[in-house]
Amino acid sequence: MPEETWTKLIPTKDCGPGCARFVTIGDLELAVFHLTDPDRFIVTRNSCPHAGGNLSAGTIEANTVSCPWHYWSFDLDNGQCTTSERVTLCRYECRIEDGYVYARLDGA
Ligand code: FES
Repeated sequence: MPEETWTKLIPTKDCGPGCARFVTIGDLELAVFHLTDPDRFIVTRNSCPHAGGNLSAGTIEANTVSCPWHYWSFDLDNGQCTTSERVTLCRYECRIEDGYVYARLDGA
């Protein structure tokens, strides 16, 4: 895994099933979500595209997160906002290796 391409974020054990974690990498604020059925991790911008709500503190249901500020909901598998079809949440490619979540933050 080339170090310049993948950024190590957090140990997978720090983000249990159905939970989310806030992660900062430099100035970049990210949310790591651990979804289930099937088990997978999703990495997005933490800031809600509506008005900057803290998505890592949102409510997770199945594959969606609802923003804690005004309750807009996002499909975490594709970033699509289910409240306004013109809004998309920025997602980052991620992978799990050696018990850590990594993300490709190129151009972020
Ligand atoms: S800031 Fe997220 S719904 Fe308004």
